[in-house]
Amino acid sequence: MMYAAIMGYGTIGSGVAEILVNYRDRIARSAGQEIELKYVLDLREFPDSPVADRVIHDFKTIEEDEQIKLVVETMGGLKPAYSFVKACLSAGKHVITSNKALVAAHGTELLQIAREKNVNFFFEASVGGGIPIIRTLYRCLTGEKIKEITGILNGTTNFILTKMDREGASFDEVLREAQELGYAERNPEADVEGHDTCRKIAILTAMMTGKEVNYEDIHTEGITQITDVDFRYAKEMGTSVKLLGTSRMVDEKVYAKVAPVMIGREHPLYAVSGVYNGILVKSDMLGTSMYYGSGAGKLPTASAVVADLIEAVQNEKTNVPIGWGAGRQEIADNKASESRYFIRVAGDAKEKAGLVQEAFGEVQTLVLEGMDEFSVLTKKMSEEEFTRRAIVLDSGCQRKGENGIRQIIRAELED
Ligand code: HSE
Repeated sequence: MMYAAIMGYGTIGSGVAEILVNYRDRIARSAGQEIELKYVLDLREFPDSPVADRVIHDFKTIEEDEQIKLVVETMGGLKPAYSFVKACLSAGKHVITSNKALVAAHGTELLQIAREKNVNFFFEASVGGGIPIIRTLYRCLTGEKIKEITGILNGTTNFILTKMDREGASFDEVLREAQELGYAERNPEADVEGHDTCRKIAILTAMMTGKEVNYEDIHTEGITQITDVDFRYAKEMGTSVKLLGTSRMVDEKVYAKVAPVMIGREHPLYAVSGVYNGILVKSDMLGTSMYYGSGAGKLPTASAVVADLIEAVQNEKTNVPIGWGAGRQEIADNKASESRYFIRVAGDAKEKAGLVQEAFGEVQTLVLEGMDEFSVLTKKMSEEEFTRRAIVLDSGCQRKGENGIRQIIRAELED
């Protein structure tokens, strides 16, 4: 029998407790011994819950209880999660977390402490909710050289974009629904501004390169500027807009970014809808593989935490070599990364054809009925070149006393 504590009885923590209590025998069979949930640490009381008698409020109870060998951290955020997790690892306890902010900010140090103490620091649920992507990278693809990881890594934003696409729903209305369903972060800005995806792609990039990645080096844009008008064009073009986190290895340089991207039906991530996440991995021997499943939500995310708990029990006395070392992975300047661009331009397409041609050369133009604007799809070019050309177009419009570019979305579409 191994004793466990859960820190944080929110959506995921309560899901983990539910699984440990309801599926005790099944988990014992997998783990090789029973897992007994001894404490649930939270600021609140839960008098009507099945764990009411296990709720504690003082972290020291967990830290000082030598019986506790397994600690689940599902509090989220850095304070006090970081100091609690560090103390648990230092005390020789295995720690399992779903907290991407913690892993992205302090993963290197926490992995190092786990190695020194011969325990495990597992974080499967920190990326892709219930999708086993971390384990896939360190176990199944361990012999591969990974060249690219691109993912829809945030359930909330994918839920919002899917509803905007299919139902023409408004951004605020769908965000509220996602929050009610327990998908969104406590602070929805983390989801909609792309910060959550940024931390997840930083973790995946560190797994890919074996080196620490500073998530602040990753160019990050969210979805707050995406509108129903963009989806009208996308529909006409047979495309959709998804928030993608991408990390690509080109000539031993790593390009990583988070941004809304227009993709077509042929793209493997096109069909990833609603709260689902999808992660595309390109590696040298396997080629392209894709991992798909629930990216957020109580039981799907708790399922990944429980799988880590089981792996920790199976490796009670061994540190499983996962993660990355202390070397820092540089992220290449975003200016050099290439894509096509979908732009919406104010005014009449015929009148502005010359200006567009002067700025971008050959483009695909689309006019929607009843709109005082048109869209163009450029050829592939670097961010730096695009910015230069966009300035040419905008200043050309201004010379004529007219408005220029209304919207810019990167496009991963075949030429
Ligand atoms: N807010 C996150 C999401 C939760 O929507 O994907 C899972 O990390």
